[in-house]
Amino acid sequence: MKLNNFSKLLLSAFVVMSIASSCVKEGPMGLTGPAGANGKDGTNGKDANETCKVCHASGKVDLISTQFQFSKHEYGEAAFEEAGNVGCTPCHAQEAFKDIVARDVQPVFTLGSNGKYSLQYNTLASTAYGEIGCSTCHSSLHTTYGTADLAFTTVKPVPMVMWGGKKTIDLKADGGKSNLCVKCHQPRPQSNLQTGNVQDYDAIAKNPTGIAYDANNNSATTNIIRPSYRMHVHYGSVGAVYAGMGGVEFGTGYTNSKHTEVASCMDCHMGAMVGRAGGHTFNAVGKFDGCNVTGCHSTAPISAATTTKYWKQTRDDVKLLLTQLAAKLTVDGVEIMNRSNDSEANLWYGLTTKNYDGYLNVYDPSLNNPKLGLATYANATGPFQNPAPAATWTAEQKADNLALPKLSLTNAQYGAILNFQLVLRDYSLGIHNTAYTTTLLKNSIAVLP
Ligand code: HEC
Ligand code: HEC
Ligand code: HEC
Ligand code: HEC
Ligand code: HEC
Repeated sequence: MKLNNFSKLLLSAFVVMSIASSCVKEGPMGLTGPAGANGKDGTNGKDANETCKVCHASGKVDLISTQFQFSKHEYGEAAFEEAGNVGCTPCHAQEAFKDIVARDVQPVFTLGSNGKYSLQYNTLASTAYGEIGCSTCHSSLHTTYGTADLAFTTVKPVPMVMWGGKKTIDLKADGGKSNLCVKCHQPRPQSNLQTGNVQDYDAIAKNPTGIAYDANNNSATTNIIRPSYRMHVHYGSVGAVYAGMGGVEFGTGYTNSKHTEVASCMDCHMGAMVGRAGGHTFNAVGKFDGCNVTGCHSTAPISAATTTKYWKQTRDDVKLLLTQLAAKLTVDGVEIMNRSNDSEANLWYGLTTKNYDGYLNVYDPSLNNPKLGLATYANATGPFQNPAPAATWTAEQKADNLALPKLSLTNAQYGAILNFQLVLRDYSLGIHNTAYTTTLLKNSIAVLP
């Protein structure tokens, strides 16, 4: 079990007390020395107890810490796993996040001495750690001991990492507080195979029949990507979908739902507790009261998950579109998208009927090797050949890989895969931004033969 800070404090106080009470054997008392000179009067202290109570009251910090135990920010393990990694911790670890904000580090790509671009969104080695906790978001805690200390680490518009900072998300509802969330909950970039720079989504969308990867010419300088199991936009796609700006936009007709402008992350994810959702659990599962906090869905149409129009119908529609898109992402009957029936490892288990996880059905000896019969691998037809086998693979694995069908990608397929991942990993099945999500999927389906 993990101890929260207060339990740790109580525990250490208990240890100190037990040490003190165990000192029972003492020698005879010595002579009393002369009295010392009187000390200076100290300056008057603040009434500490009063200012502490602003936060240290049963309904505030104590209660919030309890709610926070249900937040994946607290119980998730990525902060431990990525500690020390200066490129991962800006979104995964407290001290790194605070450092990125304090130094205003921009997510730019710069040209290195090897002639390739690379992303410079890094914290320092000395700050690449820290579990996400209260002061990740409230970074001024215990500085003035007043309510001002609850101020947020940042609410500034967010330069998007996936575009090397060339586009910015600014969610204005609720004083811009959603920008705090989006600073971390945004996709990571796809980089161009040749240049290392940010992939040009506009060029891909404008030329769907172009070749993104030619499997028969692995070293062609026209290849912009090489498919692999983990060719993806990372996990935190919500911010981009919410703002309506993260997809490969084939065709036209892109608009945003009202949420983008009028609702904030807090409306649906914080507020009153409902079961294990709300407050500082940051969880929205089964929480429908938020739909009317701004008076929007005032006739309370979203009181239950079974309500058809807004909740069930939206999610059913998006689920169907995902299924249709995956069905088109096949080559000679072999699916490009990976399926996983492992309900724990597959974070998107149940979101689609076939349990896609957004990874690619490209051979990896430890992840989707059909010979191992893994639950993380549920595709019926076997994977595609991996165009970049690792030196560490055994001779047998290399031979197995070579026997598999090759996977070339058109721009349409590549873009559609990225859009599939973006929507699946947004988790909400269209609730965050129905209009954008639906257009993105429909246009992706339309552009595929
Ligand atoms: C602006 C809100 C706020 C004020 C005012 C405040 N605290 Fe805190 N305090 C917090 C938060 C938040 C935590 C972290 C709780 C957790 O991690 O679960 C905390 C934790 C603590 C801890 C646990 C040890 C630690 O550092 O994690 C102590 C002790 C503490 N506060 C003492 C005080 C005292 C004494 C005062 C008044 C002089 C005070 N606090 C005023 C918000 C506040
Ligand atoms: C410092 C970066 C950071 C900030 C700021 C942040 N998050 Fe997160 N959030 C994460 C990470 C990282 C995870 C996943 C943690 C893990 O798995 O170890 C996460 C997890 C979550 C989850 C659970 C996701 C799941 O798959 O179950 C929700 C919901 C969430 N965050 C909402 C929010 C909201 C709302 C805000 C703004 C109030 C916010 N987050 C601010 C980094 C952040
Ligand atoms: C731009 C911010 C950002 C960066 C940089 C980033 N991540 Fe994440 N990552 C997130 C967010 C946000 C989530 C949680 C998304 C959710 O659950 O909705 C996440 C989730 C994850 C998860 C899944 C955790 C789980 O729930 O099991 C892993 C693993 C992970 N990240 C690893 C990494 C690694 C490794 C790197 C560096 C190569 C990295 N991340 C860099 C934002 C980021
Ligand atoms: C992921 C970011 C994030 C983390 C981590 C976080 N908070 Fe907050 N906190 C917020 C946001 C956002 C609000 C404003 C909520 C709103 O506007 O509805 C808030 C509001 C508060 C408030 C004011 C609410 C009130 O009732 O006055 C307190 C107190 C507070 N947080 C304490 C904590 C404590 C204690 C922790 C750690 C256990 C913590 N926060 C962790 C984002 C965060
Ligand atoms: C209109 C309500 C609404 C708003 C506003 C909203 N969300 Fe969500 N969010 C949801 C719903 C509903 C789900 C899916 C929960 C479920 O499966 O029941 C979800 C899911 C998520 C998840 C996946 C983990 C989870 O709890 O299932 C993350 C992370 C997340 N939202 C972050 C955000 C962020 C960041 C913002 C602000 C940019 C935001 N959300 C704004 C309703 C909302």
